[in-house]
Amino acid sequence: DEESWRVTSLVQELAATVREPPPRYLVPEQDRRGDQQLAGAEMPEPVPTVSLSRLLAPDDEEAAKLRSALQSWGFFLVTDHGVEAALMDALMAASREFFREPLQEKQAYSNLVGGRQWQLEGYGNDPVKTQDQILDWSDRLHLRVEPEDERSLERWPGHPERFRGLLHEYTVSCRRVKDGVLRAMATILELDDDAITGQFGDNKGSTYARFNYYPACPRPDLVLGIRPHSDVCVLTLLLMDGHVAGLQVLRDGAWYRVPPPAHGHALLVNVGVSLEIMSNGIFRGPVHRVVTNSDKERMSLAMFYSVDLDKEIEPIAQLVDEKRPAQYKKIKCRDFVAAHYEHFSKRERVIESLKI
Ligand code: SIN
Ligand code: FE2
Repeated sequence: DEESWRVTSLVQELAATVREPPPRYLVPEQDRRGDQQLAGAEMPEPVPTVSLSRLLAPDDEEAAKLRSALQSWGFFLVTDHGVEAALMDALMAASREFFREPLQEKQAYSNLVGGRQWQLEGYGNDPVKTQDQILDWSDRLHLRVEPEDERSLERWPGHPERFRGLLHEYTVSCRRVKDGVLRAMATILELDDDAITGQFGDNKGSTYARFNYYPACPRPDLVLGIRPHSDVCVLTLLLMDGHVAGLQVLRDGAWYRVPPPAHGHALLVNVGVSLEIMSNGIFRGPVHRVVTNSDKERMSLAMFYSVDLDKEIEPIAQLVDEKRPAQYKKIKCRDFVAAHYEHFSKRERVIESLKI
């Protein structure tokens, strides 16, 4: 029918059946500019790494590392975070098992209601907003994990059986990491340590877990796993595949490869654009993308921490004065997330639309 272009194949199915990616997956010229094309360059220094336990001790040296990471790349690895390595491994293994289930089993959790109406939660791909939109070489399972009493558990995979329990445990463990990092960040902004965590609202925010699955791709020179974007949330905690690289970050107009963490179970912390607004532009949400490779599948798990959906996001009052007036208009979180997907589909950054 006339809108059949809105419904796309799962990339895992495509990867198993086609020898060339369909034209809808070939990245536009704008993403292939420069010497490096999609390959990216080696980072000129190791990924900034911060020990959470030392940071919270507190320890000035560790705080200085955090400050420098935030002023340069906008992301860093966090070690000594207290999330059990065995739990991380078990959850990644369980999600790998989910993606290996037969299509029909996974489709029971589809993000297309009635086979076509897109919604954020579930298994599938990003929304297709226009017929000429270029698609990413990845499938994902996207679940709202917090607030706990608002979970739609029927959307959480029942296979493998341990999946739900592991995701719950991981959610609880990561909450402490997020709060610790945000307290340290507030201190760097010379605010009370609960100045950022206090912005999340009465329900203490809305958290999504997104399991990303990137099949091997026959044309890594022409196809991206995820197009360039910044995360719309306050903060992202990313658990990356320890063996397969893919993440790249943009700095001063050049793309750099972020290697899989050398400390196997470090978590990557990414500043989201909600925090860019709250910090009145002092912190920046880095633009990043994921490239594909021709021989190995890759997986990652992102925990996205947003404020309550009905809460407004705006620069924290203490960070606004005559010398530094508000740099961004305020927006309700729910509207910000919707606007993010509109901009994302056009390969634009939502935050540009809020700049004053
Ligand atoms: C993302 O940007 O959401 C995913 C990053 C990754 O898979 O490394
Ligand atoms: Fe991202």
